[in-house]
Amino acid sequence: MGLLRSLAMLLLSIWLFCLLQVARAQSPSSSTSDARALDALLQDYAYQAFVHPRTGVVYEGIVPSNLTGIMISAMRLRSGSLRTKGVRVFKEFEIPKGVLEEPYVERLVLVYQNLGNWSKVYYPLPGYTYVAPILGLLAYDASDLMANNLPELDIRASGQPISIKFSNLKSLPDGLVLKCVSFDLNGLENFSNVLSENICTTFQQGHFSIVVESIAPSPASVSPTPASPGGKHVPKINGEGKKNNSKVWIVIGSVLGGVASLVLLGLLVSWLHKYRNRKRIQKMERAADFGEILHMTTVGSTKAPAATMMRTQPTIETEYVP
Ligand SMILES: *[C@@H]1O[C@H](CO)[C@@H](O)[C@H](O)[C@H]1NC(C)=O
Ligand SMILES: *[C@@H]1O[C@H](CO)[C@@H](O)[C@H](O)[C@H]1NC(C)=O
Ligand SMILES: *[C@@H]1O[C@H](CO)[C@@H](O)[C@H](O)[C@H]1NC(C)=O
Repeated sequence: MGLLRSLAMLLLSIWLFCLLQVARAQSPSSSTSDARALDALLQDYAYQAFVHPRTGVVYEGIVPSNLTGIMISAMRLRSGSLRTKGVRVFKEFEIPKGVLEEPYVERLVLVYQNLGNWSKVYYPLPGYTYVAPILGLLAYDASDLMANNLPELDIRASGQPISIKFSNLKSLPDGLVLKCVSFDLNGLENFSNVLSENICTTFQQGHFSIVVESIAPSPASVSPTPASPGGKHVPKINGEGKKNNSKVWIVIGSVLGGVASLVLLGLLVSWLHKYRNRKRIQKMERAADFGEILHMTTVGSTKAPAATMMRTQPTIETEYVP
């Protein structure tokens, strides 16, 4: 059984290895890390909008020129007021009472992002078309307004969800079903239904938009942004390339894993087959030793074993006359 067990172990470890590779290729995709880097950059720029900030007032931030098209805003709040009152209007967001942050801070900053024409660059969603820009809502500790690279606070609505009212949806042919899409901070997407035409809801922070499933993607709609002449600020072309690359590796990995498994399975089966044959021969030998005694008959001048019931009498070939 030793061989069988080690073969099985080998098979299992190869399979686990392949699984791991696939998981690694999929989870922190390059576009997710680009999006996280953008969050960090926008936090920094949003905080710069605060000079002598009053709580509960929306301050508009200014993005670096290489990100023109993105809009950011920030609002500083006491966490007690967020919990007991919420924020009736923060751009497209309506935050009900009962939103709690984790870990607890005394004051926090809500950063709003509108990614505009950069939405699909930072949040590519194959098979879907954005009909609204990606809107982000992220929360940070407000204790140091000069800070950058702050970690997000985890905010959650404990009662009513936060709602997002999108305006100016891109007009579309009738009959397409709108879907809310949300991305959590790990870049995981989740779809839900749109409420009254243009409202999405969420219980946590993240990035949100409305999409429709793409109709047969015409070449024009696939690449509406030809690499601009001053294209040094279009870094995500690269990002998408990397993503495709990792998909290729997933495919190659799966195929190789599959082939390896098949080969091993073949080996296992042939080994089992041999093992069973050996067992059978052993059994036959044992049967010969202890069980039925084979009757010896004389055939011509030689002795040969013969079963008790014979269908044909043994004859010597040369004696056989047709
Ligand atoms: C845009 O410019 C800012 C500041 O100049 C820089 O920190 C950032 O990395 C640039 N971002 C991109 C995506 O090029
Ligand atoms: C978005 O539009 C601005 C001008 O409004 C442009 O400078 C920028 O390059 C555009 N971004 C993308 C990703 O096309
Ligand atoms: C996706 O959204 C639905 C509805 O908002 C929610 O019930 C579900 O838990 C979410 N799933 C994930 C993985 O976030």
